[in-house]
Amino acid sequence: MIKKSKQKFVFDPDFCHNEREVESKLIISYLLPVLGYPINAWRQEIKFNRFRLDFLAESGQTKNGVVIEAKHPDKNLNDHLAQLKGYMINLDLPYGLLTNGKEVRIYKQTENTIQLVFSCFAYGIENKIDEIRALIGRETLANSSNTEVNTKITDVNMKIIAIYHNKGGVGKTTTVVNLAATFSKAGKKVLIIDLDSQANATFATGLVNFGDEEKDDLKDNYIYHLLKSRKSFSISDVARSSRFSSHKIDVIPSHILLMKHEKELNEYKYVQGILIKKLELVKDKYDIVLIDTPPSLNLYAGLALITADYLLIPSDLKSFANEGLDNVREFLEETNEFREMTNRPSIQILGVLPTKISTNAKFVKSTLQKRIALIKQRYQFEVMDSIIFERDDLAKCTEQTLEIGELEVADPRSIHDFKSHSKSVNEFQELAQEILQKIGLSS
Ligand SMILES: Nc1ncnc2c1ncn2[C@@H]1O[C@H](COP(=O)(O)OP(=O)(O)OP(=O)(O)O)[C@@H](O)[C@H]1O
Ligand SMILES: [Mg+2]
Repeated sequence: MIKKSKQKFVFDPDFCHNEREVESKLIISYLLPVLGYPINAWRQEIKFNRFRLDFLAESGQTKNGVVIEAKHPDKNLNDHLAQLKGYMINLDLPYGLLTNGKEVRIYKQTENTIQLVFSCFAYGIENKIDEIRALIGRETLANSSNTEVNTKITDVNMKIIAIYHNKGGVGKTTTVVNLAATFSKAGKKVLIIDLDSQANATFATGLVNFGDEEKDDLKDNYIYHLLKSRKSFSISDVARSSRFSSHKIDVIPSHILLMKHEKELNEYKYVQGILIKKLELVKDKYDIVLIDTPPSLNLYAGLALITADYLLIPSDLKSFANEGLDNVREFLEETNEFREMTNRPSIQILGVLPTKISTNAKFVKSTLQKRIALIKQRYQFEVMDSIIFERDDLAKCTEQTLEIGELEVADPRSIHDFKSHSKSVNEFQELAQEILQKIGLSS
């Protein structure tokens, strides 16, 4: 529901279990009041000819209100676009808001169709409220006959993102698992692929919970099995449900044994295309696939760069990581050559993501800005606007343990499950939003 933190309200979608609760907890208690619609400026469950709208919020000007439709949290908003469009066009209303309590989307009517003009996660919506108010706040609509806004188009295809840097310890795995948790919390269907034989993402998602090696249930069914044969082992055969997040995320695990299979797989003529082919078969099952990679220029890192649509490069922005960017660039040239031979477009670089960044105010104000500028100038890589700062919570959440009798077993948590109202959660939300915007997926 709406929880009070130090100064501001925080909406938590986990308290909305059905359509009624989305209506009461998100729309009536929060959105309508903060957007300036007093109780006499909106109506609920109103009938217009054959239509029955959930809400109509009125600005006081004819034909300048907002249709608001609330859906059950399990519903995919894409399935309700036609209905919203019907309402907006038939009632000639410029704006429509659609939400399932996890995502919030705003559509604008243009030339007999509707276009997405804004989207955000419901979780963290307080940080976006100014943008929403500027679009559909009562004052905005009352003062303008037709607000011009940027438009973008929703794309519903599965997107594959590799998280890669050949420098070790820069935060790749931390980014993969917590980004996955953030997307999943926002209602996206997420798959993590661990292509690193260190298997840190496998560990961080709670899949290494056997106390001793004899109980190792991973070694006979992990990423190697997916790669070694075209015919046997589909994605569904190898994927497991993670145990680090209260929201569902599937994981293709890795294993330390992956290392010794590199030579054998290198000689297997289909290996380069195998992940692409197998992922094609699950393109309706997942919205986002995140690939964790080893800090190396090996076969597995190469496979990630050949398979993915997008690349995110976490970096602590220190000298060695910077120098490593030249290797990344050369490696990308090689893998892009292979992509060209197989008629696939080059991987799209989302940018360098500053990670493990000191929170020291002086550093942030001056040194950090210089380091960011350097990446752009000397290495010609874009830098993401989002920053993941160095915070104890992020290191600690993976290190959680559970005592079972005499045994202490690993019990890693996503940052959302470890500390849901933390600065790191906000940072990951910003990052998730920025990525969704760049890859053309609405949140
Ligand atoms: N933002 C952060 N704040 C604090 N600690 C962090 C942060 N990001 C990562 N760490 C810690 O730094 C260490 C390395 O992080 P991580 O494993 O994510 O890096 P990596 O790039 O995946 O490493 P490798 O190259 O070995 O796979 C871990 O102990 C992790 O908990
Ligand atoms: Mg790692």
